[in-house]
Amino acid sequence: MLAGMSETLRPRRSCLAVPGSNPRFLEKAKGLAADQVFLDLEDSCAPLAKPGARKNIVAALNEGGWGEKIRVVRVNDLTTEWTYRDVIEVVEGAGPNLDCIMLPKVQNAAQVQWLDFTLTQIEKTNGFEVGRIGIEAQIENAQGLIAVDAIAKASLRVETIIFGPADFMASINMKTLVVGEQPPGYDVGDAYHHILMSILMAARANNKQAIDGPYLQVRDPEGFRRVAARSAALGFDGKWVLHPDQVGIANEIYAPSQEDYDHAELILDAYEYFTSEAGGKKGSAMIGDEMIDEASRKMALVISAKGRAAGLQRTSKFTPPEG
Ligand code: GLV
Ligand code: MG
Repeated sequence: MLAGMSETLRPRRSCLAVPGSNPRFLEKAKGLAADQVFLDLEDSCAPLAKPGARKNIVAALNEGGWGEKIRVVRVNDLTTEWTYRDVIEVVEGAGPNLDCIMLPKVQNAAQVQWLDFTLTQIEKTNGFEVGRIGIEAQIENAQGLIAVDAIAKASLRVETIIFGPADFMASINMKTLVVGEQPPGYDVGDAYHHILMSILMAARANNKQAIDGPYLQVRDPEGFRRVAARSAALGFDGKWVLHPDQVGIANEIYAPSQEDYDHAELILDAYEYFTSEAGGKKGSAMIGDEMIDEASRKMALVISAKGRAAGLQRTSKFTPPEG
């Protein structure tokens, strides 16, 4: 596996939030082109609706029709009275039809370990494959961010580290109400840079995927595009989507452009040729005005892997120089 890439290259460019309390939305989500769906028992479900939502989610997962989507359920966080019943009901009820459990507001590695042990217990008791169900950890407060590396390492089941901007901003008293946008009065940079980079470093150091959280202005696709482009540029693997209009934009923004993908494939072919016997066993070489070497190959591998995972096809090809 390529160092620095996430363990699984299953794309998660778009991660669609679906309230578990709404059977109509659960049904509709099946037909959308999101890479991942997460069926929510947490903040989009009112407390009184949570027991019914568990049942809706089990039924929707067992009914099938999700295609290639990664199927995730977000349970309530471990400071509430709901978490263990969420996990037990959903995993006992639909374990084989479920890919990951998302744990929100994670504060430390012990919370992830609790989920890991609980999943193992349920898998063993019910005869499910042990260790197949992954964990997605949401970082939504200062404690979580400070412990993010330990959280990423806490279990082999961890697949993604997710930024939860709404809860995060509330937890650190950031003075804004518009999720994903800069706090008014802060005009000297990106107020989220440190948070995003800390999550990205923990993800990359531990071969996990890094996922950006929601953008709540669902009627502003250009705003979504602008904010998504920032975390995509840093190297994030995907972003939450809350509305069908955001799905296509996320799928586009978190995949390389056709031009970058073609260029990456060209670098890989050219480098392979120039380092070969026939190409002169060179350590570095020129493609046009660009010098490429081993580090260029590594960067190109990242773009190429993301492009292939997103189903891009190359539209140009490398031809070795004459003579
Ligand atoms: C998501 O859960 C958020 O709090 O932003
Ligand atoms: Mg949250």
